[in-house]
Amino acid sequence: MIFFGKDNSDLIKASKLIKKGELISFPTETIYGLGADATNETAVRRVFHAKGRPNFNPLIAHVSSIEMAQSIAEIDDRAMRLIMLFWPGPLTLILKKKPNTVCDALTAGLDTVAVRMPANDIALKLIENTGVPIAAPSANKSGCPSPTEAKHVIRSFDNDMVSGVVNGGRTKIGLESTILDLTSENPTILRHGFITAEDIQNKLLMKVEESTTPDKKGKVKSPGQLLRHYAPSLPVRLNVRYHVKSNEALIAFGKTRLKAKKVINLSPTKNLKEAAHNLFAALIELDEDALYSGIAVMPIPNKGIGVAINDKLKRASIK
Ligand code: TXA
Ligand code: MG
Repeated sequence: MIFFGKDNSDLIKASKLIKKGELISFPTETIYGLGADATNETAVRRVFHAKGRPNFNPLIAHVSSIEMAQSIAEIDDRAMRLIMLFWPGPLTLILKKKPNTVCDALTAGLDTVAVRMPANDIALKLIENTGVPIAAPSANKSGCPSPTEAKHVIRSFDNDMVSGVVNGGRTKIGLESTILDLTSENPTILRHGFITAEDIQNKLLMKVEESTTPDKKGKVKSPGQLLRHYAPSLPVRLNVRYHVKSNEALIAFGKTRLKAKKVINLSPTKNLKEAAHNLFAALIELDEDALYSGIAVMPIPNKGIGVAINDKLKRASIK
């Protein structure tokens, strides 16, 4: 795997490989994506194959301009207001797809498409150089914790399916983008993220609904809403307040007197943004260590980005 830096000449080389149909991982403000030309069916199928991702679970098309978004999706007034308010940024919009643009593999045959403009200069330059939207799911094996550093990507893809990774250091936010469905009457959150329902509601002055888990019949609105997800191979035990088992490592939040062989504190000062930034790296680090047989996690307040943190932890703890 080639290790690219963030200077222009490296980004141009990386774009050339994407144009040739190869896979390149790159940082966004949320997590590292596994990028492919969104208009190239063979390249996009390669992404599904490399991740071991079911082909019914569509990918996000990443754009570097509003014009590029308009070339693939119908953008009505409501969508344009959201774009003006939150792009570039960690908000993915589900919109009606325009025909003959991104390939069918990307949208898993749906007539809608997920579009986002990442707030990361490396990502934006890479898309701009490539000149087409870039399909990019998280650069990890399907179901595992998401990568927030280039070394996490290398660890997941040790074969030659991925041609390279652009190193941009630890990603700023650390959790995936919020997914908002704009094809229903009220905007509906399909995946929690850094931008909350409250943020959107306050700025859009419109009711925002949530549908982030399968309904009673087991039907999912977003095919990625499968319950077990983001999971390390070690069992994860949540809301641990009083006792850590002797063989468990501890993920702490805030000051604690809990004792464990190994403690990673997501944020000693109880800062939820800092905790989000550190969450996946902590899960991956503990999972690599053969010394423990489980991960205990202290309670995390369920407000602001804490909602997204708890959603990831809950899915990671399902066996
Ligand atoms: O922060 C992010 O969004 C990262 C970075 C790399 O941009 N990407 C990411 O991609 O998390 P991925 O593939 O791991 O998650 C995409 C989610 C999946 O849950 C998928 O089901 C949903 O978006 N999705 C994609 N297209 C959709 C569509 N047309 N309708 C409903 N859900 C869709
Ligand atoms: Mg993912």
